[in-house]
Amino acid sequence: MGLTFKKLHPHFVGEASPIELRRVHDPETLAAIRAGMDEYAVCVFRDQPFTDDEHLGFAQRLDGALHTKLGSAAIQKNRFGNEALGDISNLGADGEILKSDDRRRAYSLGNRLWHTDASFQDPPGRYSMLHAKVIPPAGADTEYADMRAAWDALPAATRAQIDGLRVHHSIAYSRQTLGFDFSKDEEEALKGAIHPLVRTIPRSGRRTLYVASHASRIIDWPVPEGRLMLRDLMEHATQRQFVYRHSWRVGDLVIWDNRCTMHRATPFEDARYRRELRRVTTLDML
Ligand code: OGA
Ligand code: MN
Repeated sequence: MGLTFKKLHPHFVGEASPIELRRVHDPETLAAIRAGMDEYAVCVFRDQPFTDDEHLGFAQRLDGALHTKLGSAAIQKNRFGNEALGDISNLGADGEILKSDDRRRAYSLGNRLWHTDASFQDPPGRYSMLHAKVIPPAGADTEYADMRAAWDALPAATRAQIDGLRVHHSIAYSRQTLGFDFSKDEEEALKGAIHPLVRTIPRSGRRTLYVASHASRIIDWPVPEGRLMLRDLMEHATQRQFVYRHSWRVGDLVIWDNRCTMHRATPFEDARYRRELRRVTTLDML
């Protein structure tokens, strides 16, 4: 059916030719989308009129089982009664804009830190699929960083030094850096997970850094040395030449590969305007 991608950045990000994903069931087209993900790591699909059920169904057809432990469950009940349907909005259960001192708002501000979804869980997230329903008039872009290009650009000595290391990821750690405190029960539910610092993406064979705001320490290294290395790697990987900035239009579906990209939200007037997106994330099963 002739799906093609236009590259939006020198390293990554493909914008798909017109396609209605909710109607895509055939194995050839699904394989072409997966091949696009292998190549571009972030794929942009415009004008997707998804209902929530169509969004959930498409995600499963594309990549299998859905992630339901996205972290926010420990903080608040899901607004849609389905933990697989991530509520990326500035709204409360009543659909009203959250007050600036609301704890749920403080929690969601953590998305402004560079991260990769559910790296504090095992299995972590593989593909995230974010669909735009309501977009404010200005701001609120999402930035993406290509961690494969960042790995490729590291000096050989650094690559040799960090290959094979393991990293502990914890959302309690990343949220605490913003002054957000978890209760004992919440912390108990969010113990964190250990993942390799350098990964190989199976189908493409590309090597990639796997770091995030959630990365709290390098296992087997003293904490300060590990944290300094993680900071240096984050700084390296988020240099402008590795970053794409997505300006949302209503109906956009952006799919990103959490194994080899980081992303972050950018500010907007969130006490004044609504912003409402839904996210479905698949499980990174081997
Ligand atoms: C997410 C996320 C950033 C944004 O949906 O996982 O981090 O701009 N979103 O809303
Ligand atoms: Mn995210």
